Parts: sequence; C-alpha cells; structure tokens
Amino acid sequence: MPEQKILKFPNGFFWGAANSAHQVEGGNVNDWTEWEKANAQRLAREAEDKWEPWQQEKFPEMFDPQNYISGRACDHYNRFEEDFDIAKSLGQNAHRFSIEWSRIEPEKGKFSHEAVEHYRRVLLALRERGLEPFVTMWHWTNPLWIRDLGGVEDKNFPCHFAYYAKYLVEQLGSLVRFWFTLNEPTSIIVNSYQEGNWPPQKKSFFAVQAVYKRLAEAHNLAYDKIHKIDPAASVGIANILNYFKPQNINSGLDKIARNFASHYSNERFLNLTKNKHDFLTAQYYFYNIIKFPSRINNKAEINSDLGWGIRPEGLYYILKDLKKYNLPIYVTENGLADAQDSRRKEFIRGHLKWIHKAMEEGVDVRGYFYWSLLDNFEWDKGFWPRFGLVKVDYQTLERTVRPSALEYAKICRENFLEI
Ligand code: FCB
Repeated sequence: MPEQKILKFPNGFFWGAANSAHQVEGGNVNDWTEWEKANAQRLAREAEDKWEPWQQEKFPEMFDPQNYISGRACDHYNRFEEDFDIAKSLGQNAHRFSIEWSRIEPEKGKFSHEAVEHYRRVLLALRERGLEPFVTMWHWTNPLWIRDLGGVEDKNFPCHFAYYAKYLVEQLGSLVRFWFTLNEPTSIIVNSYQEGNWPPQKKSFFAVQAVYKRLAEAHNLAYDKIHKIDPAASVGIANILNYFKPQNINSGLDKIARNFASHYSNERFLNLTKNKHDFLTAQYYFYNIIKFPSRINNKAEINSDLGWGIRPEGLYYILKDLKKYNLPIYVTENGLADAQDSRRKEFIRGHLKWIHKAMEEGVDVRGYFYWSLLDNFEWDKGFWPRFGLVKVDYQTLERTVRPSALEYAKICRENFLEI
C-alpha cells in the first residue's frame, strides 16, 4: 500500500471561498440586470442548441427564462451574517467578495451613504468572525450611468473607476488590507467584445483593443490612488489564467498558436499593468489543448456539469510560470459546477496537491479561495450550474452544507492535506 503523506501549508496561509456581489446579493440594478431582462427569453430558447442532451435532462431549469434573471439571487445582501457564520464553521480564515459599484455610486458623482454603511457592516462581520476580507471593487457589473456613457470602452472609464476606487478606500480602507481593483478583465474582453455574448454584446476588433487599454488604465490609475491614501494596502487584480498546451509538442504551428493564445489570454494584461501589482493571483478553470490555429476542446476524463474538463495539473504550470515575477501569489478562484457533489472533494484535493507541489518548488502561494461559498447566479448561464460548497434552495433560500465542504473544512482547519 502506498504510504500516506502529509502536505503541510505554511502558518498564516489564507483559506477561504469567493463570491461576487451580482451573483449572490440580489436586488441589484446595473447593466447586467437590464441585459438579463432583455435576453432571458432568448437564452432559454437557445439552451437546446447550447447544451448536450445529458445536461438538458439533468438541468431542465435552463429552459425557463426565470433561470436567467438574477433577481433576489441568494439574498446574501440581507443574509451575509448567516453566510459568514457558515464560512467560519467551515474552518475558513478569509473571504473574497465584491462591492457593487452601482449601489455605491448609483448616479455619477453621487455616493450612497447607506450602501457604504452596508459594506462597512459586511467587513465588520467578517473581521468579527476572523475572516480576512479580500475585496474586489469591480466584478464586471457597471452602474447604468457608466453603461450609458459607453461602458468600459469609454475613454473616461478609467477616471470614473479610479474615482470610485479612491472613495472606497477613503471610506472603508481601515478595514481592508487586500484590494482587487478588477476581476478577470480578459473574461470581459473575450465574452463581451470578442465573442459578443455578454453585455453590451459588441463584437468588434477595435473595441477589444480599446477595452484592453481602458481596463489596464483603470487599474493603473486606481492602483496609484489607493496607495496614495493607504501606502500599506496590498493591491492587485483578480486574474483568470488559462493553461495552454500544444496538442503536438513537435508541431511548430501548434506551439505558435499556443504562444499566441497564452499571450492574449495571460500575459498581455499583466504587461499593460506592469509594476502595479503588490501580489499576483490565479483564477484557474481551463486547461486548453491547442491545435493550430485554435483550441480544440477542454474536455477531460472527468468533467464538471458545465462540461469543463478537470485537470488540476494546469494550475501547477501556471503557478510555476508566475514565479518569475517574484511576488506573493493568491489562488483567488478555482471551482466547479457539480450539483451532485460527486467530484468536488477530489477536485479541491487535486488542485491543492498541485499547488503544494509548486510551493515546494519555491512558488510563494499564500492563499486559496474556492469558487464559491454558495451556489449562485452564473452570468449568462443563470442559476442551474451549482458551484457552491453550500447548496442554496432558490425557493426557500435555505442553505445546506455539502459533504465536500466538510472535507475542505478539515484541510482549512488542519492547514494540511493528507494524500
Ligand atoms: C469566473 C468568474 C466568476 C464565476 C466563475 C465560475 O470566471 O470570475 O464570477 O463566474 O468564473
């Protein structure tokens, strides 16, 4: 029998889960909520072409337009204390969440005192429970006035964003050490402007270039403003990093295509924001096999309910690659849709094993955040994909801890993984 091994994590390692305002809070009014209302019928109709028969059978909610309306979501806006009690009971010592810009600044230059006080209570509730807050300022949703000015493509977007960022740090900075300006800028670039699937559904090569620039400027400006107010703050971007592998390592063309994909998806944004990171992050979901000229698929032996292949080793290669930047690293998202909870335990263990291997080889990883604490509203796919450590019954809003969450809790508490 193979010997059991203990993979120890360093003292002070952050263990948590992540969420974002729009996906859990409920009651938002922003560019996405408007888009959902206009597109729910269409998304329900298109489900038949988009998903495989086994998915359609298992998740018939995808044919219901209501599935695509975020609505009251998990009502986390009102139930955050109950949810943080659960996170604490699961042995976590950190929590990543986002502040909803449209609540803080519902009209240009007009800030809501009530919303600020809400997020102050959220931060205090985390601190009281020993959960270190990791706070995202922009997790994709925009106030309607930003949308009306041209959204992230508008040349003034960086200034508006930096102004909002400054305000947040002035108001709440004493309670926050870790700030993320943006969540996954490249996901918006690809899904909204390259493929045209997400709001504002503008498929344009020029818009893609503009948005790369605007989002990078927004981060850079905000980074400086935040540090001016709070030099001790730790500021970064919550960044998706995809792993790309050439299908045939002897094929020059496959390798060129791999390098190209990796540049646009991972490196370009980091280059545009060089020297404006106090730490780096990895949000890992996709291991892509590249056959010239593009990706073939990301299916693996075991796949999530969304059909995303599970290949934990990709995270190891990504982390090894980040080592060259010589900055602390946090894995700020990693998770899967698994309604039956049949793969989640091994998913978490598998990724942690590879993270640990990277750490043994000198990569300075300081925290891991599973996506997500609760089942939530998965953007244009709606509610059917179940990412939560905690199941949410959307009728009663009842929370039920899934068995895999208890396994993860054991690792968080013991600060080691037994394999
Ligand atoms: C990430 C997003 C997050 C969630 C997960 C599944 O790309 O940051 O909001 O949708 O994917």
